[in-house]
Amino acid sequence: MASPILEVKDLHTFFRTREGVVKAVNGVSLTLEEDTILGVVGESGAGKTVTALSILQLVPFPGQIVSGSIRYNGKELLGLSAEQMRPLRGKEISLIFQDAAAALNPVIPIGKQVEEIIREHTRMGHRQVRAMSVDLLTQMGIPDASRMMDRYPFQLSGGMAQRVMLAIGVAMKPRVLIADEPTSNLDVTLQAEILQRLRQMRHENHSSIMLITHDLGVIAQMADNVAVMYGGMIVEYAETRALFARPAHPYTWGLFQALPRLDSTARALTPMRGAPPKMVDPPDQCPFLHRCPKATNQCRTEPRPKLQQVGAGHQVACYNQISYAEASEAR
Ligand SMILES: Nc1ncnc2c1ncn2[C@@H]1O[C@H](COP(=O)(O)OP(=O)(O)O)[C@@H](O)[C@H]1O
Ligand SMILES: [Mg+2]
Repeated sequence: MASPILEVKDLHTFFRTREGVVKAVNGVSLTLEEDTILGVVGESGAGKTVTALSILQLVPFPGQIVSGSIRYNGKELLGLSAEQMRPLRGKEISLIFQDAAAALNPVIPIGKQVEEIIREHTRMGHRQVRAMSVDLLTQMGIPDASRMMDRYPFQLSGGMAQRVMLAIGVAMKPRVLIADEPTSNLDVTLQAEILQRLRQMRHENHSSIMLITHDLGVIAQMADNVAVMYGGMIVEYAETRALFARPAHPYTWGLFQALPRLDSTARALTPMRGAPPKMVDPPDQCPFLHRCPKATNQCRTEPRPKLQQVGAGHQVACYNQISYAEASEAR
């Protein structure tokens, strides 16, 4: 088995607001194995972005990492100072955001923004830095890159901005790349191209990738392993093939049920019946309780279940998971 490059254990990240405590990340445990792609899937509001921000300790105020452990290459990151985190960001672990246009600095030409990350982490001279930036933008499919260096983000299309983000994200060949819905706002052709570039980076740079998405089609194409997130926690973790063949958590099962048939091209998640879980001052019980067709008395009375091993590399957080027989019957 591969060794873990990133290990998150029992992570809690809360926002203390006037309405109450938003438990955005409420006991997340996940492992990114070296040289693999981990898909993280879940509905909007599940806590995917806050998990990603927590890993890099970029959670905005009033958010706070309350407890847990984040190990990168065996080393604990929680407790490191801002000073100690800075050299890791972008070089060891980098983050590509959903909304490139918002993530880029609007008042700085894109070339400068690419150069900045190279300058921060290397001692290359001005010319070399520029040449490397042009190179990176070209590799990401930006035509006439040396001229494009002077453009401002607002002068770029969404697809071009996303390519610039990718160039910045991969500039230092990070060992871990966290891509938060990198293709959500793009059309199908561009989406395929960006995914292809991510795959390429994985092979050429040996980057391990945490790919956050709400698209099960993207997961099926890209991910070696999948973590399913619901209500601030990981409810199921498995190899992609195992998860698709044999979903064990009722929520995962519901996701597949909600999928359009195979002959349809739309693969985005259809919202499931029932309201999304309460994130402000949530109850102690399983967050899926009030939508779950399998809920028992135990689920109503006991604290939220923890991830348990149910098979090789397959973990589920549920007191009454879907049996193999049930799962195959429904196929
Ligand atoms: N700055 C913030 N202040 C208060 N609540 C927040 C903030 N950012 C995110 N949240 C809440 O945290 C929860 C998880 O959000 P997020 O991680 O963005 O979900 P996802 O990326 O899975 O769609 C949501 O309930 C969201 O409203
Ligand atoms: Mg998000």
